[in-house]
Amino acid sequence: MDESLLIKNLTLIKSVADRADVKIIMALKGFSMFSVFPLIRQYVPGTTASSINEARLAAEEFGGEVHGYAPAYLEDEFEQWKGYCGHITFNSLNQYERYKSRLSSDDKSIDYGLRINPEYTEVSTDLYNPCIPGSRLGVRSSDLGDNLPEGITGVHFHSLCESNSYALENTLNAVEKHFDAILKQCTWINLGGGHLITQKDYDVEHLIKVLKTFKAKYPHLEVIMEPGAAFAWETGYLVSTVQDVFDSDGIQAAVMDVSISAHMPDCIEMPYTPKILGVELAKTGEKRTRIGGTSCLAGDYVGDYHFPDGLHIGDNLVFNDMMHYTMVKTTFFNGVKHPNIAIWHINDELEIVKTFTYEEFKGKLS
Ligand SMILES: Cc1ncc(COP(=O)(O)O)c(C=O)c1O
Repeated sequence: MDESLLIKNLTLIKSVADRADVKIIMALKGFSMFSVFPLIRQYVPGTTASSINEARLAAEEFGGEVHGYAPAYLEDEFEQWKGYCGHITFNSLNQYERYKSRLSSDDKSIDYGLRINPEYTEVSTDLYNPCIPGSRLGVRSSDLGDNLPEGITGVHFHSLCESNSYALENTLNAVEKHFDAILKQCTWINLGGGHLITQKDYDVEHLIKVLKTFKAKYPHLEVIMEPGAAFAWETGYLVSTVQDVFDSDGIQAAVMDVSISAHMPDCIEMPYTPKILGVELAKTGEKRTRIGGTSCLAGDYVGDYHFPDGLHIGDNLVFNDMMHYTMVKTTFFNGVKHPNIAIWHINDELEIVKTFTYEEFKGKLS
């Protein structure tokens, strides 16, 4: 984690919140590196949690406001959620019905919400599209009708993924079209995550215009946004070392000391090919080197890159943009060793904040 890059992102996020007069909180599912929470807390008032563990981490390590949303609250965890959160959003009318009698009047300090399905998205990868037919995420307007259920004060939607402000604008138009009557009865709306505000091509001025236009139409609403990836976008690296290289059917196969599957699973799930500093992807006809991981999964590789002088045992490769959706998704598959986690501080000091032990691997098993 490069602290100066994180501060750059935080400064931009805070300036958007201030200028557009919206609340921006951080989604822990995308980035939960709690050693930098005290720094992030200086810029944003809180976090959003998607499980009881994240809610506890948020309350204990981040402080400030904790917002909760999960596709289902478990019977024996709901009281704990109430202890940690100031906002709790239900995913379905069934979930609301199940817990409605437990929204007791002494809960005045908690705002309850309902996740809605805007039935509009510009996300083309099904894995990240909550509006696909048959989606389990959020209530459709045809099922909700025009009346906000008793005890609910706000709505939440999430249908963007690494999206720009124009996708948000179109989504808000869909939300207004389907849920105008509901919005008039709410006191707050949460626009979810997927706003890649800190990406270099993101049109921040347009975002502020979109938010101000929406607020002018619904001046009674508090507007909340909960990006995750945008906070840690391009703020850090995964440093790896080549352990072996050899020819495999004319392709140079490389085995690293990290695993794509265990340490950067989104590269396989999304899928996407990460940038390696100073290295280009192989073009047609060029010599190719396939960067593979240390696990025995055949598909544990990221793609074919071009090294004009070949790659050698002992070379270091630095994967770029390895903060969001990496640490939070890692696994101990194959019992692989996990990289240390370190912060490169603004005073140029490198602090190792975490090293992994055998006990942590064993502790996940029984
Ligand atoms: C409900 C909800 N809020 C916020 C986020 C954070 O999205 P991102 O990290 O893409 O900004 C997600 C991501 O899946 C989500 O499901």
